[in-house]
Amino acid sequence: MINKAIILAGGMGTRMSPLTKAVNKQLLPIYDKPLIFYPLSILMLAKIKDILIIVNKGQLNQYKKILPDGKRLGINLIYKEQKYPKGLPDAFLLGEKFINNKNVALILGDNFFYGQNLTSKLINCTKLKNGAKVILHKVIKPELFGVAKTSKSGKILSIKEKPKNIFLIWQLLDCIFLIKRLLNTQKKLKPSSRNELEITDLLKFYLKKKKLTSDILGRGGAWLDTGSIEDFYKTSAFVSAIENRQGFKIACIEEIAFNNKWIGKKEILDAIQFYGRCDYTNYIKKLIS
Ligand code: DAU
Repeated sequence: MINKAIILAGGMGTRMSPLTKAVNKQLLPIYDKPLIFYPLSILMLAKIKDILIIVNKGQLNQYKKILPDGKRLGINLIYKEQKYPKGLPDAFLLGEKFINNKNVALILGDNFFYGQNLTSKLINCTKLKNGAKVILHKVIKPELFGVAKTSKSGKILSIKEKPKNIFLIWQLLDCIFLIKRLLNTQKKLKPSSRNELEITDLLKFYLKKKKLTSDILGRGGAWLDTGSIEDFYKTSAFVSAIENRQGFKIACIEEIAFNNKWIGKKEILDAIQFYGRCDYTNYIKKLIS
């Protein structure tokens, strides 16, 4: 079972400067809520309650204003600062004490997932007994991501970081579930040519040991990157279209906590007070009316 997770929400956000000069990228809005709500909601849907958020040095106070310690969501939230972006596997090094030799999931602070059956897929991933598991999603620009080549049956054959001239490849998503036996592997990693520890190098190690499995987020699902200003607008438009058509909010963390029975009416009333008069409040009011 996997009961712990890390959200890696540091990085300099340089592609989004000047917006990110004073504010952490993950606190900028995707339509009607901060970006960090989306990966957090994914972990909460997976029923993971023990969460470490890794943020940039100097930006901790910004987070604590909106997500202090998780109590009002019925979860345990702790924070750790990353001095500079050393690469994704640094999350496991910085989180060593938090992980405490247990199984752990990793998700990136700027990743957006949506789709039918996503919750059951995520819960299924947390039942992982051995090795590591990733969720794959097809992309047409593999050169921008870490990707995996798969067999027709979906078995991972090889992994590459930002490959050039490769077609028909599945993207390797960053919702990664690791289990403890191989966890110390991250300590053996060396920085790549771009001077970062690469998540793809860590996963290659699992692949070599035949301990890497995957699930696929197919055509009915969406994984959207929010790496650039353009991506922020596109993802916001996606959320707005769905929410305004269906009347359901994507990533309303109070709604998920309430439906999971982690919080009750009192916490919803506290949240109404906390957010004040806004559309988000009107939505959570309906949970208890
Ligand atoms: O977005 C998916 C891609 O993320 C993966 O497909 C690649 O395999 C992986 O290497 C990574 O690509 P980039 O290095 O181009 O991602 P980026 O620098 O945009 O960082 C992704 C998020 O992780 C972003 O929210 C910042 C955060 N981050 C990144 C690094 C390297 C940290 O918090 N600390 C870090 O050290």
